[in-house]
Amino acid sequence: MGRILVTTALPYANGPIHLGHLAGCYLPADVYVRYQRLKRRNCIHIGGTDENGVPITIKAEQEGKTPRELVDYFYKSIKESFTKFGIIFDNFSRTSIPLHHKTSQDFFLKLHSKGYIVPKIEKQFFCQNCQRFLPDRYVEGDCPYCGSEGARGDQCDECGKLLEPHNLKNPQCKLCGSTPDYKKTKQWFFRLDLLEPRLKDWLDSKQDWKENVRSFALGWIKEGLKPRAITRDISWGVPVPLPQAKGKVFYVWFDNVIGYISSTIEWAQKLGEPEKWRDYWLSQDTELVHFIGKDNIVFHAINWPAMLMAHGEFVLPSQIPANEFLTIEAKQMSTSRNWAIWLDDYLDKFPPDPLRYILASNAPEKSDSNFTWDGFLNKNNNELVGTYGNLVNRILQFIDKYMGSRIPHKGNLKAEDMELLQKIKELAKEVEDAYENFSPKRATEKFMELAREGNRYFDYLKPWELNRTDKERLSTVMWVTTSLIANLGLLSEPVIPFTAEKIRNFLKIKEYRWDELGNSLISQGAVLGKTEILFEPVSSEKITIERRKMMDNIIKFSDFQALDLKTAKINSAERVEGTDKLIKLLVDIGGDTRQLVAGIGDVYKPEELIGKNIVVLLNLEPKEIRGVESRGMLLAAVHDGKPVLITTDTDVPPGCVVC
Ligand code: MF3
Ligand code: ZN
Repeated sequence: MGRILVTTALPYANGPIHLGHLAGCYLPADVYVRYQRLKRRNCIHIGGTDENGVPITIKAEQEGKTPRELVDYFYKSIKESFTKFGIIFDNFSRTSIPLHHKTSQDFFLKLHSKGYIVPKIEKQFFCQNCQRFLPDRYVEGDCPYCGSEGARGDQCDECGKLLEPHNLKNPQCKLCGSTPDYKKTKQWFFRLDLLEPRLKDWLDSKQDWKENVRSFALGWIKEGLKPRAITRDISWGVPVPLPQAKGKVFYVWFDNVIGYISSTIEWAQKLGEPEKWRDYWLSQDTELVHFIGKDNIVFHAINWPAMLMAHGEFVLPSQIPANEFLTIEAKQMSTSRNWAIWLDDYLDKFPPDPLRYILASNAPEKSDSNFTWDGFLNKNNNELVGTYGNLVNRILQFIDKYMGSRIPHKGNLKAEDMELLQKIKELAKEVEDAYENFSPKRATEKFMELAREGNRYFDYLKPWELNRTDKERLSTVMWVTTSLIANLGLLSEPVIPFTAEKIRNFLKIKEYRWDELGNSLISQGAVLGKTEILFEPVSSEKITIERRKMMDNIIKFSDFQALDLKTAKINSAERVEGTDKLIKLLVDIGGDTRQLVAGIGDVYKPEELIGKNIVVLLNLEPKEIRGVESRGMLLAAVHDGKPVLITTDTDVPPGCVVC
């Protein structure tokens, strides 16, 4: 058996980890690695943070920090939350270290010397107002492919297509909002076009890849590959190692992928065997598996393999098991709109395993999937507490209470016992197949099925009755159920490792090994370790708090600025015919009149409204209420369920801006 080198996309060190990251990439990777470890295969998990380029500088500018301060903070905090969540890395590096700078510069020079990198003078967006070039995220506009707004200069988040800044429709400077113009600058380009035929053959041969990945990559190649700029005019990143390229750094998507290699080198150095990374990267016997989210497919299935082919010495990826997106409460996740669940927040309130379980059982493996807090509560309370936890608790409590805390003796097996033991073996095969094929989702379904089988057997054989009638039989039945939970712990370890470890300790199992599955795993007569409840029920109150926190959506200042609020004076007011509540108003908004319909008629009489200075939202979409057009909305406080008009402190003329 060769080696397995698992990598996970290096998250930008510009923000905390959220559920989308976990579901798309880190959890499936950790599940896979843990499974390989149980199999005792040679498998390492290499990762780190992505600390260069525009995603870092732009965030640092927004937060008034230096890029260095920003990445130092997030490297530490991201690493910590992964540890708490049980994501195990053999090495968690960062791309701002000298080792990475050197590794990526050497990589570049090799490609350069082989003719794969060429300079070209190009027009690039330049903001006259800010007096700077606008690479990547510094410019936003409409995507030329899918039309969605807010596409960045290098990629559209919505459709995943790679862009060049000049492709954007309606480009705008991200910093000041003005329309940029062009200025010439020299950049270095990677000749993707030269590798197109080889890439295509290679992708064609990857019949065992996930369909979403293969078809996206092949679809992209069909449009033809062009040379792509891999350098930028910014001051934070890996300097381009050519004297003619002074002041330029690599495009972040050139150096970050090379981070997989530098992190492996760092791993070997820390191990005290500095050459050991070569066993992985320079051997055709290595299975290189890149776990990524959907938005990273092009880079990993096309650009990166092309870089590796051009370089010529390293192994190519053998699998790229990318997941689709996770939506939250049926809405696309958005960190800028704060529609996300942050791992740190979650871990402040709940243990890791329930989330690991829920994300695995609802993983966006083939299509997008949706996380809801209600779903979290249901799965936690019904499946983890009600099925899995219940089974383990009742068995261990029974042994504790009635069998002197000793693991029972096997005695003589009956047909029904053998049937259940056979079932363990069958389900174990299915779970194994699921882990092998990157489907934690199917694995959770199958091990949960085993827990259900266990509960059914327990209910059917009624140990509490056998305790009075047939102690021999009782011992056998309890031995069977105890081996079942031992196997259940092992089968579920990749998904819920903290729980599996508890079970292992309860049952005094020294270590879990996959090839022992289906055996009893337990030692008859051994005294149980200290037992405790595996899962706590989650209350709907707690869930409501979490949901509300998300729904009370925080808006950006620019969203507030979009509101056209002005002072207005009420010129006339009358009830809308046939209603008590609705009043039709004509208001002076400063040189113009507006007609509004307001639901204040049960508190205010029309005649007492005339002459009041109020505040009106003018750019609200017009609406017809009871046949009367309303173009805007007046502002009122709600007190005891009744509206109280917002008026001005002193008598200001209508049409003043309210902000
Ligand atoms: N930082 C990138 C992102 O979050 C992913 C980098 S993956 C790597 O989208 F391979 F380039 F490292
Ligand atoms: Zn600008």
